[in-house]
Amino acid sequence: MNSIKNEILHVAIIMDGNGRWANARALERLKGHAKGAERVRHIVRASLGLNVTHLTLFAFSTENWRRSEREVAGLMSLFRAYIISESAKLQLNDIKVLFIGDRTPLDPKLIFLMDELETLTKSNDALTLTIALNYGGRDEIIRATKQIVKKVKLGELIENDITPEVFSLHLDTGSLPNPDLIIRTSGEYRTSNFLPWQSVYSEYVFEKVNWPDFNNSIYEKTIKEFKSRNRRYGSAK
Ligand code: IPE
Ligand code: IPE
Ligand code: MG
Repeated sequence: MNSIKNEILHVAIIMDGNGRWANARALERLKGHAKGAERVRHIVRASLGLNVTHLTLFAFSTENWRRSEREVAGLMSLFRAYIISESAKLQLNDIKVLFIGDRTPLDPKLIFLMDELETLTKSNDALTLTIALNYGGRDEIIRATKQIVKKVKLGELIENDITPEVFSLHLDTGSLPNPDLIIRTSGEYRTSNFLPWQSVYSEYVFEKVNWPDFNNSIYEKTIKEFKSRNRRYGSAK
């Protein structure tokens, strides 16, 4: 394990365009998702070599239940397959895995695999890989607010304790730094309920390519572009 910690670099990705990638090839949407899952494997590995310390991937939003039953079921079985096939490799590469989002409506077998992978990898520190599954920023903020209200009722917190820092700790991302760079593929210019609280000072890069075509060299180029930016955080520098 690494004792000298690198500077924090948190990259978050809205992996969009699997459906369009498949459509363009006259394939069914699920083929695009399968190709997208392959990309995840490559991008996780590439992150280790690019000094990325935290990688957060938007895999399924609270709004994605609006898709056909077949597509939702296909995505859920891809998530299961990903965990089963990648666990050992993730552990071997010292990668800590976390899941954010509301787990309660997920299949208990999937929840079991998620819990198991989090437990298996909890002491790893080469990279923190966070997978946003049934994640919605507004839903996360409401769940955090409910937890805080409960604590206030129990007398564990008082109104004046509620600062942005304390609020952050009640979000699913409580143990994570804010994302430095948020990438969205497929040429869409919106955030679709991804990390609204955490992203107030994130840098955005919108890439034209669909997620299955987002290769390591585009990834590298994106990080370079991010590094050339001047982050002022409201100051006059
Ligand atoms: C992203 O690709 C994957 C998920 C949202 C699960 P899409 O499925 O949204 O692909 P497009 O946007 O329809 O092309
Ligand atoms: C955002 O993509 C969610 C994920 C990438 C998991 P969507 O395809 O669901 O977003 P919209 O519907 O185009 O805004
Ligand atoms: Mg989409």
